[in-house]
Amino acid sequence: MTIQANIPNIVGTRKSSSTRIPCEELGPQKLMIEGGQRLHGKVKVSGAKNSSLPILVATLLADSESVVRNVPDLEDVNTLMEILRNLGLEIERFPDGAIRSRVVDNTPYEAPYEHVQRMRASVLALGPLVARRGHARISLPGGCVIGTRPIDLHIKGLEALGAKIEVRHGYVEAQVRELVGTRIYLGGAYGSTVLGTANIMMAATLAKGRTVIENAACEPEVVDLARFLNAMGAEVSGIGSHRLVIDGVEELHGADHTVIPDRIEAGTFMAAGAITGGDVTIEGVCPNHLMAVVDKFIEAGVSVDLSEPTTGNIYEDSYKGSIRVRGMGGTLSTDITTLPYPGYPTDLQAQFMAMLAVSGGISVVTEKVYPDRFMHVAEYCRMGAKIRKEGPSAILAGVPGLSGAPVKATDLRASAGLVLMGLVALGKSEIHHLHHIDRGYEKLEEKLHGLGAKIWREAD
Ligand code: EPU
Repeated sequence: MTIQANIPNIVGTRKSSSTRIPCEELGPQKLMIEGGQRLHGKVKVSGAKNSSLPILVATLLADSESVVRNVPDLEDVNTLMEILRNLGLEIERFPDGAIRSRVVDNTPYEAPYEHVQRMRASVLALGPLVARRGHARISLPGGCVIGTRPIDLHIKGLEALGAKIEVRHGYVEAQVRELVGTRIYLGGAYGSTVLGTANIMMAATLAKGRTVIENAACEPEVVDLARFLNAMGAEVSGIGSHRLVIDGVEELHGADHTVIPDRIEAGTFMAAGAITGGDVTIEGVCPNHLMAVVDKFIEAGVSVDLSEPTTGNIYEDSYKGSIRVRGMGGTLSTDITTLPYPGYPTDLQAQFMAMLAVSGGISVVTEKVYPDRFMHVAEYCRMGAKIRKEGPSAILAGVPGLSGAPVKATDLRASAGLVLMGLVALGKSEIHHLHHIDRGYEKLEEKLHGLGAKIWREAD
């Protein structure tokens, strides 16, 4: 049975001012949404945050200048650039949007607590620093709202390459005279690790001899990093598979690279189109990166049209595809289980759960990447969803409608889920702790406003 959520038949008029007011003018902000508009139109996705971060860190591996294009303008990127400056990089965003980066000082080797606590991905500097400078001291990232997030696999990989690692006083310190390639199995209790694979792959590019990473993560963002490393002169093969082979080289040079589109942002807009019963075309996306997601949308009764590859070149096509999503008047219940790529991504769990909250019937959402990534459940329930958490799963009974409420964003993807809930809820929703969204979504409310959503920022 399908149940129609709160979607009026007539598309409402667009609110005139959705333009983001700079944080410094407003101080803390909240996001306001008046639900009930069917979204329609076209939206272009930005470059992938989770590709941009490791690729920018990889510029530590060479002295000459790299140019990284299509990097989204996000808090996380700005924070990382600040961290990299402290590590001896001259790194700037230019008016054309490209980031240029080059090493001007090869002596710093430390990322302190005040930086790492703002930016978990700074742990990525461990591999490049130890490979290039023989020494790295990085504050341990610790846990976060989506789980404990250990870095034991990063440490295991670097130790296998010959680095001497000490963990004390909240820091991980790695030292080595020369890294030496070896065979490394990089899997843990929850499967492969994305940043762990990135870290070890970067370190191995400058190691002596051959490194084989077994059970490597094969996420598109790892592929993108591997392609950037090869453009820098590295010799990485097996790209996109669970077995990466890296033949160490003497040195790397700068490269020019365009970051792949953000598949998680694309999936978020798919959910926005579907949950509002709208008709949304997402452009500049790679449908191949989203096949597990597309499959689940179709299972949930959403109409999805994918563009055909245009050039036949798997990499060139990555930037040029489109996905059209049409909500068919309410979604069907379905189950999802998050898994490493090419399975259903954990970073789209909260967004799909929002859609299931207003579907007809019972759905089960199971987390097999971050079993504790359910902080959004309590907030969803405040808006009228019926969800019970059971271990690493959430059981949902779809409701016919939601009601707008003040809610609190708990992490980046949870905040995107709350926005989706707000788009379909009756009345006004207020989303607090907005900095989570700014960490990872470029101009989210401007893009949604362009699709007809009533969404704007106010001082909080
Ligand atoms: N894990 C370990 N030991 C390790 C590393 C990971 O046990 O040394 C576990 C984790 O606790 C988790 C699983 O392995 O249970 C997978 O974690 P992974 O290492 O793959 O996550 P990550 O690399 O730290 C990246 C993304 C996350 C995304 C995950 C999974 C970046 C900057 N972050 O994190 O993105 O959820 O992969 O796909 O690329 C986000 O963008 O909102 C986000 C959280």
